[in-house]
Amino acid sequence: MKIEEFTLERIQSLYENTVEYNLSDSGVHPYSLRELLSPEQQNALLDVELGYGWTNGKVELRQAIANLHPNRTPDHVIVTNGSAEANFLLVMSVLEPGDELVVFVPNYLQIWGWARAIGVTVKEVLLREELGWIPDLDDVRKAVSGRTKMMTVCNPNNPTGSVLPRETMDGLVAIARHHGIYLHADEVYKGAELDQDEPPSFADLYEKAIITSGLSKAMALPGLRIGWLVGPVEEIYASWQRKDYTSITTGAVSEFVAEIAVQPGKRQEILSRSKKILRENLALLQRWVNANGDLFSFVPPKAGGMAFIRYAMPVNSTELVHRLREERGIMLLPGDVYGLDRHIRIGVGAPAHHLETGLERLADFVRSDLK
Ligand SMILES: Cc1ncc(COP(=O)(O)O)c(C=O)c1O
Repeated sequence: MKIEEFTLERIQSLYENTVEYNLSDSGVHPYSLRELLSPEQQNALLDVELGYGWTNGKVELRQAIANLHPNRTPDHVIVTNGSAEANFLLVMSVLEPGDELVVFVPNYLQIWGWARAIGVTVKEVLLREELGWIPDLDDVRKAVSGRTKMMTVCNPNNPTGSVLPRETMDGLVAIARHHGIYLHADEVYKGAELDQDEPPSFADLYEKAIITSGLSKAMALPGLRIGWLVGPVEEIYASWQRKDYTSITTGAVSEFVAEIAVQPGKRQEILSRSKKILRENLALLQRWVNANGDLFSFVPPKAGGMAFIRYAMPVNSTELVHRLREERGIMLLPGDVYGLDRHIRIGVGAPAHHLETGLERLADFVRSDLK
């Protein structure tokens, strides 16, 4: 099996841990265990037995995740190693060579890459900047056909931070229902909406919806490596069969902490911290874009940890990003990894002084050194 390089992740794994100012992260500055847990919980953590546990996830954790949705039981949930494993199991459980998948781009291209690798035909629906990166339902209607098995959406979207309006969500559900296809939604940024209430989950709108979620992005706990799928019992069971072949279980320590984090009160506390960091940083970024409006512009993100910024300089985005890292010690992601040159992705979940210094260096570089 041939698989295309997952350039987005490759660039990050090569450089993000060594660069001075990493602004390529898409999440929110992570918690430490000390910040997250009460002294009693920290103490209880020391008694966690380091056994294997359940291969589909500890039942209490699956129940707590099911409780985030109406009318769901632990059988509708599988716990995975990060939402990355959830996406992988989804592809391996639902799609087969020769199937057709509809994706939206720009997007986190993990499902796109796995699907192509196993011989699925991937049809792309382009999100347009002038529409606020929201899909045009007519484009979706044209892309979905009798051969389509699944449509997959990332909401809130990576990299643009757009959030689907309720009528667009309903429109996508109507199209999926009309064709009887699966509707998958990666909702790992859900809960980090900045100026609106948290929208519903696709899992609560459509009987053939399967959602990916987890603790890495809006929940600021990526080091736990906890994600999950919620969906119909049969498809969740199929993903469990595949998980026996992949990672067997998630870690006992992570499951213990995750069960605390997903309790409604704690979840809201975590999301409030994320939104506070994101709102403050976004205001800073907006001021910077205003001050540099001759070269940079963007549709401000409605949620999540990043902004997708268009620039006017006549330079390729990958080249720009490598030069910024080598010459100024700051790391961004190039639009190229999303197939959209002349854009850069900037994380807004980093500590404010990182963002501030990074943006200063970026402006200085493009004005003085970029020929
Ligand atoms: C949309 C989306 N889904 C899934 C993932 C994988 O996240 P993790 O495995 O850390 O939960 C990412 C990571 O950037 C992402 O942006």
